[in-house]
Order: sequence, then structure tokens, then C-alpha cells
Amino acid sequence: MREKLVSAFFRIWYWYVSTADKNSEVIFMNYGYSKDGHRINLDAKDEANRYSAQLYDHVATGVDVKGKSILEIGCGRGGGLSYINRYLSPKSVTGLDLCDKAIDFCSKYYSKEGIAFLQGNAESLAFQDHTFDVVINIESSHRYSRIDKFLSEVYRVLRPGGFFLFSDFRHKNELEELNNKLEAANLKFIKAEMISTSVVEALKLSSSEREYLIKKLAPRFLHRLGKQFAATEGTPTFNKFATNEYEYFFYILVAG
Ligand SMILES: C[S@@+](CC[C@H](N)C(=O)[O-])C[C@H]1O[C@@H](n2cnc3c(N)ncnc32)[C@H](O)[C@@H]1O
Repeated sequence: MREKLVSAFFRIWYWYVSTADKNSEVIFMNYGYSKDGHRINLDAKDEANRYSAQLYDHVATGVDVKGKSILEIGCGRGGGLSYINRYLSPKSVTGLDLCDKAIDFCSKYYSKEGIAFLQGNAESLAFQDHTFDVVINIESSHRYSRIDKFLSEVYRVLRPGGFFLFSDFRHKNELEELNNKLEAANLKFIKAEMISTSVVEALKLSSSEREYLIKKLAPRFLHRLGKQFAATEGTPTFNKFATNEYEYFFYILVAG
């Protein structure tokens, strides 16, 4: 029951962000990545989203995506897919998200970038078998109700030998079960990296910007909840990452 309420809250929150963000300031919705202060090269217009873009860069450069067809499941407001498209030279990029408002936003905002966006559910994908070379999924899966269905769909739409670049967080006690489900779905581990320390570093560096956006976009009564959701420094969510109660993982898996 509590899980259902939390999932409903998350859905409303994503919808709310899409409604309130009139100036298109929120194009990423992840916790970010910063390792020992290293800064990737970014165009000036991407600087405001540095840490979120760095998470995408870390994940998407896990394999060589140049010339590959990529599907991102849970693309949110598309900032990450646009980053991959502009910086990493894939053959084609497709973004899918449950939130129709986010997809409407993406279709308009990135209309000149040649990215295909569609509304859909991670647990039932409207693509033929073996369509993509790479599937990416970042900070989206933790609320899927049927993770086993999602994983079998990822396997189905990947070409044999295709890569699944998978990054998200879980309570430390849930990781073993997730890993077993990945194996059961025929997705084989190439690399498993825990990146919580780098996510915490990014959260520290971006907390004031996150708080600024929450105050700007949300009414006062939602500020506390918004900060908790955005894991700004000092919130219970932030502390769970800082103490490794939550683990943020990055997995590279291969289909087959
Ligand atoms: C925290 S946001 C991350 C978005 C994006 N990956 C990023 O890093 O900016 C999670 C996204 O997952 C989407 N999502 C949640 N459940 C989904 C599902 N069952 N199928 C597809 N997308 C889903 C949400 O609508 C939301 O846009």
C-alpha cells in the first residue's frame, strides 16, 4: 500500500515538474556524477546541467556508442539523450517515457535534433525484437512495479550481443535480488560499479542550485518534499546515499 502511494507521488511529481517548468530549466532529473572534481568538456549552454550530464557521460561512454542505435527508457525531459546525441555520435537515438507531458516537452524542445520520442511503459515496449544496439536506463527503474517484465523487454529489444547500460539506486539489501533478476533475464554482467561516492559529491556541488529551482518552481508547502526528492544536502535521502544505505550502481550488461 505504501509503495503504491509513493509510486503515485513520484508520477505526480514528474507530471508537476513538466507543468511548472515554463522556462525549460529542468531538462535532467537525476542526482548527477562528479568524481574527484573532474570536469568533462561541455559547451557553455550545457554548463548549468554539468553534474547530470556527467552522469550520462559516465554511463554512455561505458561502451563505444558511436554509430550505434540507442534506446533510452525513462528519458524524462530528454537532456541526457540530447547530450548523447550531440557529443557521442550515435547512429540514432530514441527516448521513451511513461509521462506524456515529458514526451510532449521533448518532442518540441529537441525538434531540431533528430531524436525520436515516444510515450510508453518500460514494462511493455512497442518495438520489434532485436531493434537496438544499446539500451540505456538511468535513475528510472526504482519505481517500476514489474522489474522482471522490464528486464525481459530490454533483452527482447536488444540485438544479440547488444549492451544494456543500467544505472540507478537501491537500498543495499535489494541489490542481490536485482542482480539475480538480471541474470535470469539473460543479461550478463560485464561490469558492476558502485558510484554512490561520486553521486554524493555531485549532490553536494549542486545542492544550492537544486534548492533554488525548487523554491522557484514549487509552492512553499512543497519545498520540504521537493528538497527530499532532489536529495539536497542534509535531507534524509541525501544521508542515505552518504552512509551507503542506498547504493547507486552502474552496470554494463550484454544480451545473450
Ligand atoms: C528521475 S527521472 C530520470 C529521467 C532521466 N533518466 C534523467 O536522468 O534525467 C525518472 C523518469 O522515469 C520515468 N518512468 C517512471 N516509470 C516509468 C515506466 N514504467 N516506464 C517508462 N518511464 C518511466 C518517469 O516518468 C521519469 O521521467
